[in-house]
Amino acid sequence: TFTPNAFVDDCVRDLRAKVKDDKVVLGLSGGVDSTVAAVLLHKAIGKNLYCIFVNNGLLRKNEFENVLNQYKGMGLNVKGVDASERFLSALDGIEEPEAKRKAIGRVFIEVFDDEAHQIEDVKWLAQGTIYPDVIESISVKGPSATIKSHHNVGGLPDYMKLQIVEPLRMLFKDEVRRVGKTLGIDAELLGRHPFPGPGLSIRILGAITPEKVRILQEVDFVFIEGLKSHGLYDKVWQAGAILLPVNSVGVMGDERTYEKVVALRAVESTDGMTADWVHLPYDFLMKISNEIINKVKGVNRVVYDISSKPPATIEWE
Ligand code: XMP
Repeated sequence: TFTPNAFVDDCVRDLRAKVKDDKVVLGLSGGVDSTVAAVLLHKAIGKNLYCIFVNNGLLRKNEFENVLNQYKGMGLNVKGVDASERFLSALDGIEEPEAKRKAIGRVFIEVFDDEAHQIEDVKWLAQGTIYPDVIESISVKGPSATIKSHHNVGGLPDYMKLQIVEPLRMLFKDEVRRVGKTLGIDAELLGRHPFPGPGLSIRILGAITPEKVRILQEVDFVFIEGLKSHGLYDKVWQAGAILLPVNSVGVMGDERTYEKVVALRAVESTDGMTADWVHLPYDFLMKISNEIINKVKGVNRVVYDISSKPPATIEWE
């Protein structure tokens, strides 16, 4: 059986032995995995850990500011880098899902590399890779199936010449959360749903524009806040909204409208490898649907995704 306390002790000891007095750079994403990895390293090596948190312009509404503040409150040495414009211009006109992931992965590495170079004499790159990431990236690279290229695994360019340290590589998500709890990380942060590295870009089907990002951020915000205020957030493994590349006819007052359709998705899972759609209460779905259509300009229809993985995936792209 897995004991978080013993894991933390062993891990801190191993990290000290491995990294010694070297400097380590780590990319924070706002998610559970990179945060737990950062706090573990901070415990092991203190100020020699340099964290970088990149805003790719595809985060949830207010996420960059909120999470950055939270990290600073935790005593982590973290630099926030707003590279939104750079990501959005690299994505301009790209429609194909894997091409989006590649563009984002490339810009992320450029931005991260620029920042890492400003840290004098850094020797290590720490990543919050967990066991399911390792497995999925193996299946992505395998000859039989190209599923999705998750850019947060193996995305390191050779020229960075950094050694890699991945303290959570053998852990499942629930174990990571238990380690986080032992480390005293805020329960709200630990309970956060997983969120993909390419962010909202793979939930905007087709080409991405700043306006579409804004619409989806608003829709997602209503949905997620609604889940929280109805006590449903913690019952769901992951939830989000998808902006479809479709307009549908609606009616608003005396006017005919022709606006965007959004899909809501909420799944139950233990590791993301398989997932079932969640039977959210009809009353809740009704309320959220009304709220989205009333509040978010440009959306006149909401649908709910009732597909499980497999054969569907969690994300639509
Ligand atoms: P799928 O859509 O493959 O998603 O069923 C499984 C889990 O992985 C997340 N996901 C990603 N995470 N980069 C990431 O860091 C990606 O490109 C990516 N694609 C999917 C997804 O949100 C779900 O938790």
